[in-house]
Amino acid sequence: MSLHADLRRITAPDIAAKKGVVPIVSLTAYHTHTAAIADPHCDFLLVGDSLGMVMHGFETTLPVPLELMIMHGRAVVRGARRALVVVDMPFGSYEESPSVAFRNAARVIKETQCGAIKIEGGSRMAETIHYLTERGIPVMSHIGLTPQSINVMGGFKVQGREKAQWKALEDDAVAVAEAGAFAVVLEAMPAELAARITRKTPIPTIGIGAGLNCDGQILVMEDMLGLSPQVPKFVRKFGEIGAAINGAVQAYAEAVRDGSFPKPEHTYAMKSPSKKA
Ligand code: KIV
Repeated sequence: MSLHADLRRITAPDIAAKKGVVPIVSLTAYHTHTAAIADPHCDFLLVGDSLGMVMHGFETTLPVPLELMIMHGRAVVRGARRALVVVDMPFGSYEESPSVAFRNAARVIKETQCGAIKIEGGSRMAETIHYLTERGIPVMSHIGLTPQSINVMGGFKVQGREKAQWKALEDDAVAVAEAGAFAVVLEAMPAELAARITRKTPIPTIGIGAGLNCDGQILVMEDMLGLSPQVPKFVRKFGEIGAAINGAVQAYAEAVRDGSFPKPEHTYAMKSPSKKA
């Protein structure tokens, strides 16, 4: 029997059922402790491939290997008891064909025990989304600014700033919904467009830099905590963890240098000698 049998984990259909009922709350998570802290507050936690940039110092998400996603996915699933855990499929692991996508996504599900995967791309990925969902893998889609395509997009660029681009993005959202995606991330697009997509699409839209009128919101946790050195315009900092870490490390360094740490209470005593002896 499961250790957590008393607690039912949120599922992909639960997320889909929240559309129009209650705003969906989500954050990225890459490791066990932050997942455990965020878990009671979030509907789903995304092990985003942004971890390549945030945790590993890559300039883009493109170099992230599948094994790294699996390793962080496992860590997050160990920390989260209630929230749905969604793991990003990294660049090169799903685009080639639906069967390659299935093989790699099944590996992610088996090895991490997450509840869903996310792939980037709209209409062009519809066949793959259908193939995966028909075979038991819940898929979250991601359209708008799709960071795995930055070499084609010419950088991290806001999408749909011109009305002529709207129809393609609206068609993308409808196509992934019809293919069976349970939710779609809308990244970096004007709020008016995201609102239109949200009205037109039967599945929840999860906005990141897409305004208020989405069915839910997601941010990169390190960005909203104030840990990332640079953040996009759409981020609100809900904390200043970077400054707090700096202050704590500075205080520690001073205490070691001036001899005020460790104190006796941080030190082990000898065993008292036995009375018999
Ligand atoms: O990788 C990621 O963190 C993401 C979010 C920005 C949605 O895809």
